[in-house]
Amino acid sequence: MKIETIIQKFKTTRTTTEKLCKPLAIEDYSVQPNENVSPPKWHLAHSTWFFEQFILIQFDKNYDVFHEDFGFLFNSYYNNAGKRVLQLNRGLMTRPTVAKVLDYRKHVTDKIIALVENNTSDKILNLIEIGINHEEQHQELLAYDIKFILGNQPTFPSFQTELFLKEETQKAEFIKIDEGVYEIGHTTTDFCFDNELGSHKSYIQNTEIANKLVTNAEFIEFINAAGYEDFNLWHSEGWDFINKNNIKAPLYWFKIEEEWHYYNFDKLEKVNPNLPVMHCSYYEAYAFAEWKGMRLPSEFEWEIASEKLNYGQLWEWTSSAYLPYHNFKKAAGALGEYNGKFMVNQHVLRGSSIATPKNHSRKTYRNFFHTSSRWIFSGIRLAKK
Ligand SMILES: [Fe+2]
Repeated sequence: MKIETIIQKFKTTRTTTEKLCKPLAIEDYSVQPNENVSPPKWHLAHSTWFFEQFILIQFDKNYDVFHEDFGFLFNSYYNNAGKRVLQLNRGLMTRPTVAKVLDYRKHVTDKIIALVENNTSDKILNLIEIGINHEEQHQELLAYDIKFILGNQPTFPSFQTELFLKEETQKAEFIKIDEGVYEIGHTTTDFCFDNELGSHKSYIQNTEIANKLVTNAEFIEFINAAGYEDFNLWHSEGWDFINKNNIKAPLYWFKIEEEWHYYNFDKLEKVNPNLPVMHCSYYEAYAFAEWKGMRLPSEFEWEIASEKLNYGQLWEWTSSAYLPYHNFKKAAGALGEYNGKFMVNQHVLRGSSIATPKNHSRKTYRNFFHTSSRWIFSGIRLAKK
């Protein structure tokens, strides 16, 4: 990517993150309702720390850190970058203030631009590109986390956003994939994360994949057919999970006077039957597929079919465990901790969602979450058995 393009993209990314948070009240910025949901203020600071830690500290000889505690406060999980606050304690930080964090953002943004104006090595430009993509991932996480923070309040406050789904109105069809050997993984020179590299061949059986996502109407049929009560449909772990947590519907769903409602960033409103169902865990996606007599596609089938799929509404659970591809290589140093160390006990989701920044996703993109995750913007696409 050309230098001017990178600088422009860097500036846009930084301001977009701040714009996403603008409609929040100051009280919303520091809340952490559970371990997985980080306070918006933390995202603003952590995505800034990433540029400070991996670029300014390494490559700007004259750079003094903005604040000596910020590495400890805003390092997420990089053991190579030193000690850090426990993830569960992010919500305890009422300090630094939001204003201080915004100063931190401006300081680091300006220093990165100044650095690139004086030093245009490929190494620095590549790291800035990783930092941009990292911050874009946090923009999407901000959407998940803001929805969780507001959607778990007694008053269900309205949040000004354009993150709304479209109805899945196309006629239901199945797309055929012919048996054969296919190339999987990223092969072009465009940006990708290291977990997409290690392009390799995969043998696929004849199969058929749905052209649309499962809708709320279909999911209500599953609920009404006592899908949440039939242990035969569930993994043992999934069955324990829904029973321990008293789960009887997707996250944010509430039955009011015999009708399903959900929180939709705006208010509690009646479930729209034509929208794709969202906020299901992998366990629920699997049980639904079982009930339908179908299955979830593997990530390889999904990638092959993707040319013929409309996607971009919700990340789609696949049946694939998140594992390294053949020839996967971890980057040297701290950034080797970015993806590789999470390749256990997680499932791959493919596609992208309404919260994914434009041009951030691609058909080889491997998103991953634990099978119990429900606050992410996830949906269900079926394949025939
Ligand atoms: Fe991060």
